Amino acid sequence: MVDHNLIKKLSLSFFKGLHCNLKPEEIKKMTWENQDLFLKQTVKTALFKKYPCHRDFCVRFFKMLIQSLEPEQEVHDDMYTFLCNIMKTSINDFCYRHYVVGNDFNNIITIKETKNMVLNGTTGLKTWEAALMLSDWALCHKETFSNKNVLELGSGVGFTGITVAKLCDITSMIMTDCHSDVLNTMNNNIQVNLSDFCLKENIKTNMYTNGGKSIGVMLLDWNDTEELSLPYIPNIVIGADIVYDPSILQSLLNVLLMIHKINNNVDIYIASVIRNQDTFNEFLKELELKCFKHEEINLSNNGLIDWDNSINRCLLKINKIS
Ligand SMILES: C[S@@+](CC[C@H](N)C(=O)[O-])C[C@H]1O[C@@H](n2cnc3c(N)ncnc32)[C@H](O)[C@@H]1O
Repeated sequence: MVDHNLIKKLSLSFFKGLHCNLKPEEIKKMTWENQDLFLKQTVKTALFKKYPCHRDFCVRFFKMLIQSLEPEQEVHDDMYTFLCNIMKTSINDFCYRHYVVGNDFNNIITIKETKNMVLNGTTGLKTWEAALMLSDWALCHKETFSNKNVLELGSGVGFTGITVAKLCDITSMIMTDCHSDVLNTMNNNIQVNLSDFCLKENIKTNMYTNGGKSIGVMLLDWNDTEELSLPYIPNIVIGADIVYDPSILQSLLNVLLMIHKINNNVDIYIASVIRNQDTFNEFLKELELKCFKHEEINLSNNGLIDWDNSINRCLLKINKIS
C-alpha cells in the first residue's frame, strides 16, 4: 500500500539535505511501490534531472537508504542505478538546492549555490539561514510587500529576493550585490525560477519583466556609493545576513542614509543571525547615532520555509526618526 505521508516525509528530508533516518517501523513500510513513489517525487523529477543536488549528499543519502532497506526489503533497481550514476559524476563547487515552500512539491525555489561558506573571496555564494528566516517571515506578511518597490542589499545567490518576487505581489524587486560571481549566479537563479520573465540588459541593470512585475539585478557596492541611482524609488529595503563584518558597518549605514534621502518613508527590514553580539550591538549603536529607530520583530518559525529555530537571531524594522 502506498504511504503518502511517509514518502512525503522522506522526500522532504532529501530536499532539505537532512540524513536519511528511517525508523524500523517505517523501513517495514518501504515496499517497492513506496520506493518507486519516493524516486518519482525526487530524483526522477524533470526539475532534479535538470538541476541536481550536491553529488556527495546524494551519495550519502542513497547509501544510507539502501543500507537500511536491504535487510528488510527488495531494493528498487532504480535506487542502485541512481547511486551508480551519481557516483560517476565529478565533484563540483556548485550544486542546486531545492527549497520546498510550505511542504508543497509544486512550489519549489531552486537555487544554484555552493556549500562553502567562502568561495572566490565572497560569502555570497551560499544561502544563509537569515535568508530563509526573512523569506519565511515575508511569506507570512505578504501584505507588507503588496504593490511595493523592494530593494535588496547583499542579495547573495538570491534566495530571499527571488522568493519574495515570485510569491508576493510586489511591483518591483531590485537585487544587489558587490561581487561579479555572485551577480552572475543571482542572474542564473532568476532565470531558473522565473523563466516566464523577459530579460532586458543595460549597462547598470539586468531587468526581468513579466506583466506589471519587474526584477532587477544590479551592482551595488556599499563602499562605492558616491551617488546612488536606482531604477525605482524603493518603499521597502530588505537584507539578510548583512550585519556580520565590523569593517563594512559604516558603509552599510551610509547606504541606508542614501536610500533614506531618496525616500524618507522607506521601511528597512534586516534579518541577522547573531554570531558576534559585539558586532550586532555596534550596528544598533550606529543606527541610533545616525538617527535611525529600530524595532525588533518577533521571528518564529512559520513553517513555510524551513529554518533552524534554535539559532540566536533578530529581525529589525528600521526607520529614520526625522
Ligand atoms: C553572508 S552573505 C548573505 C547573502 C544572502 N543575503 C543570504 O542571506 O543568503 C553577505 C552578502 O553581503 C554581500 N556584501 C558584503 N560586502 C558588501 C559590500 N561592500 N557591498 C555590497 N554587498 C556586500 C556579500 O557579497 C554577500 O552576498
